[in-house]
Amino acid sequence: MRTRLRKWTLFMGAAAVLAFPLASRAQLSTYDIQTRIGAESHIGNVTGHAKDAAPPYRRYCVGCHGPLGDGNGENAPYMQPPIYQQPRDFQLGIFKCRSTPTGTLPTDQDLFDAITRGFDRSNMPQWNTLSKQERADLVAWVKHFSPRWVSEKPGTPIQIPPEPEVTAERIKAGREVFARVQCWKCHGVQGMANGPSASTLQDDLGRPIQAFNFTDGSRPKCGDTDQDIYRIFMTGLDGTPMPSFADNIKPEEAWDLVFYLRTFMSQKSKEKEMAKQLALKPVDPNAPAGQQ
Ligand code: HEC
Ligand code: HEC
Repeated sequence: MRTRLRKWTLFMGAAAVLAFPLASRAQLSTYDIQTRIGAESHIGNVTGHAKDAAPPYRRYCVGCHGPLGDGNGENAPYMQPPIYQQPRDFQLGIFKCRSTPTGTLPTDQDLFDAITRGFDRSNMPQWNTLSKQERADLVAWVKHFSPRWVSEKPGTPIQIPPEPEVTAERIKAGREVFARVQCWKCHGVQGMANGPSASTLQDDLGRPIQAFNFTDGSRPKCGDTDQDIYRIFMTGLDGTPMPSFADNIKPEEAWDLVFYLRTFMSQKSKEKEMAKQLALKPVDPNAPAGQQ
């Protein structure tokens, strides 16, 4: 009887731990959110004010992100396919496109850039037609939904060393990094999003998600310059299985990897030309360490 009781207590304990994140998601009330209406953002010399953003939010964003910013807008249930990620729940304060280390809050500029850019391969449109002031106000408005912005500061942006010249050696070195840290497990040896783990991937809310396919012409959500790609794998896309590799890849190696990733992409590039001349083969997942 005692063991049964203990097992039951353990079970209840586990259930409480599991239930907590879901419960805390649903708990923020209009009142709670309203306490943060003073939230601001700073984009260069423009200051955004959450209190001014209610009209543009209602006009442009509420249908997807919902009145409470929890991603339950009236259009949300109709978004297909499911791998196209549901509108974000801003109450969680978790963001994909950051210049800051994994687990930390993004900068105001990161949010501004994400709103401006929109997300390819998702229903999140591009908002570059809104004025800079409106977008800055919306950044402050997005922040006011989550108490994380009161208790935490944004992380310190990662340092990106100057971009070196592309060389054949660097592309080959990037291929070694791709093999060593096993990007292929999800992205596939040819970058086609068909690695052995690809079909099982889920985001942190348990929804199916696809790894990025480098070869089909789509653009990364968090920007498509070389610097953006560097930042993506050194900070990770929080809330998704795409991790940060800041602890596994050195800054010099990171540039090599950016060059190697370019060889997969359908867009014309110096890297693609060089890979053709080198007759580079896809990495071999079964090769012993260091013998690609
Ligand atoms: C048609 C639906 C739709 C509309 C309208 C929309 N969004 Fe989104 N938004 C999304 C979806 C879907 C995502 C999640 C995409 C993903 O995670 O890949 C998202 C994600 C975001 C993110 C997260 C960025 C990050 O780095 O993680 C922000 C911020 C955001 N939206 C702001 C806005 C603002 C501000 C507006 C209004 C100007 C807006 N959205 C309008 C669908 C929409
Ligand atoms: C455990 C699986 C997994 C591994 C390992 C992984 N990725 Fe990803 N990656 C993903 C998923 C899932 C996405 C899509 C995230 C999304 O669309 O929100 C992604 C997206 C990306 C993107 C596009 C991001 C964007 O802004 O749209 C790049 C670039 C990328 N990964 C590079 C890499 C590199 C380089 C490595 C190895 C250093 C790597 N990934 C390892 C799962 C993984």
